[in-house]
Amino acid sequence: MSGRTLRRAPRLAKCAFAAFAFVIAACLAAPLLAAERAPGHAAIASAHPLATAAGHEILAKGGNAFDAAVAVTAALAVVEPTGSGLTGGGFYLLHRASDARDVMIDAREKAPLAATRDMFLGPDGNPVPGMSLNTALGAGIAGEAAAIEHLVKEYGRLPLAVSLAPAIRLAREGFPLYTRLRANIERKREVFAKQPEVARVWLRKGEAPAPGTVIRQPQLAHTLETLAKRGMRDFYEGETARKLVAGVRKLGGIWTAEDLAAYRVVERAPIVGEYRGARIVSSSPPASGGIVLVEALNVLAGYDLAHLDAVTRTHLIIESMQRAHRDRAVWLGDPDFVTMPVAELIHPYYAAGLRASIRLDRAMPSADLPGVKPASQGDNTTHFSILDAEGNRAAVTITLNFYFGSGLSVPGTGLFLNDEMDDFSSKAGVPNGFNLVGNAANAIAPGKRMLSSSTPTFIETPRGLMIAGTPGGSYITGMVLLATLDFLDGRNAAQIVAAPRIHHQYLPDVLQYEPGALTAADTAALAKLGYQLRESKRRWGNLQVVTWDYASGRVEAASDPRGEGEGQVY
Ligand code: DON
Repeated sequence: MSGRTLRRAPRLAKCAFAAFAFVIAACLAAPLLAAERAPGHAAIASAHPLATAAGHEILAKGGNAFDAAVAVTAALAVVEPTGSGLTGGGFYLLHRASDARDVMIDAREKAPLAATRDMFLGPDGNPVPGMSLNTALGAGIAGEAAAIEHLVKEYGRLPLAVSLAPAIRLAREGFPLYTRLRANIERKREVFAKQPEVARVWLRKGEAPAPGTVIRQPQLAHTLETLAKRGMRDFYEGETARKLVAGVRKLGGIWTAEDLAAYRVVERAPIVGEYRGARIVSSSPPASGGIVLVEALNVLAGYDLAHLDAVTRTHLIIESMQRAHRDRAVWLGDPDFVTMPVAELIHPYYAAGLRASIRLDRAMPSADLPGVKPASQGDNTTHFSILDAEGNRAAVTITLNFYFGSGLSVPGTGLFLNDEMDDFSSKAGVPNGFNLVGNAANAIAPGKRMLSSSTPTFIETPRGLMIAGTPGGSYITGMVLLATLDFLDGRNAAQIVAAPRIHHQYLPDVLQYEPGALTAADTAALAKLGYQLRESKRRWGNLQVVTWDYASGRVEAASDPRGEGEGQVY
């Protein structure tokens, strides 16, 4: 609108314009104000103390949260290779303090160009058990190395070689084997024993080494040194790429040089929602987490959870999880391939409609919800949260899918192949390794990204900030939902990561709970509402939380007591 038109505008219109301009200015100012606020402290929570320390080393060298994210990513690939690695992928939710920009780096794996929709189906038309999980065909084209390249180029301050240095040291000099990792080696013992290069590093006389044994990974150190010297492009177009393609094909996979050369990360707008005065910033497709989280919170916004009895509160949280996971199964997939009603799914009116179907006196059977009908009716990944002293943030969930991915290592590289292809829906309605069902939206297609449950998230309230996320496959988004509610209830970081967990993912139609999460009276009352309840034998997840309280200036970092991780404030 030109100034001339403005001068001639009638008084009422001028007032309306002034009000409109004020609102726009206020909206623009809000992030700017946030950008001016700096915590003065940095914090890192990750799944291993040596990865947290690697991040700190880089912050101490003058790096920002994004350089630290590179260092933690690379260190986790060394000390927690069961959960993530350069041959995996994931989601980097970033917040840059200088311009208050929120962005998600989509480094999700892609189906190889030679992949086909029915590649995991046998002659009977059903998925061949284990084929998408335990074979080289299960490996998607890796994105984590490209995420590192992008972070260094676009967001970090330090050279790649500096940020990779702690990981290279850990691979060369070794780290002591810890119990959780030992248990995961045990799970993969047979497949490790068949691969001499893997057995040399990860087994002793065919057995998982004793806790405390120093694990040195010379091949991985060499791969990391090559990348530090030549740049991460080498992973996609150089010596490393050639080794990867030759190695994967030898293992029976279908990666090509063209697949690797074509891989790029994508910057995507995060999903943003609002819940009772809190701003939710979370992952967007091909991660389902943000949509499921915001949809569930929109449903819950209609209830005053703080003043409800424990059973009704649990009931409503479960009903919201169930409905949001149903929409995941029906609608979600790779945004570059499918059109999704994202705006509708995260709209409060849609949630109001869902709320109308919730009865306080009865659980809704999943079969009564329109959606995917299954023919019938599974952990490992990693997350870290970083805040630097300037207010830059990173919430990062990276994965190989199951333990050590497929457990198959690409000869000569020290890298384990992911088995992320199992996150596709091999056949509509048939559950995958996490018992998740999907639809055409998440069917396999060449070059397509498989749907993820990753939910790296920022929760911002007038009171403070939480950076959170966790591994746990289909349980991930429910955990972040519970963490969000706990944060909004005023719990601190240590309480949030320790809190007991409940879960519902639509199908199977079961309310799952950790030992001790529900009392006998709760379970009796919930069974009466119609729920089928299942107490899990073990606790799940590995939540990594950083919080910042604006009023007191207090920054906290906490790592889930279920794991070996560490939260540190500097
Ligand atoms: O992206 C996903 O949804 C899965 N690949 C995550 C797997 C996972 O979290 C395993 N963890 N414990």
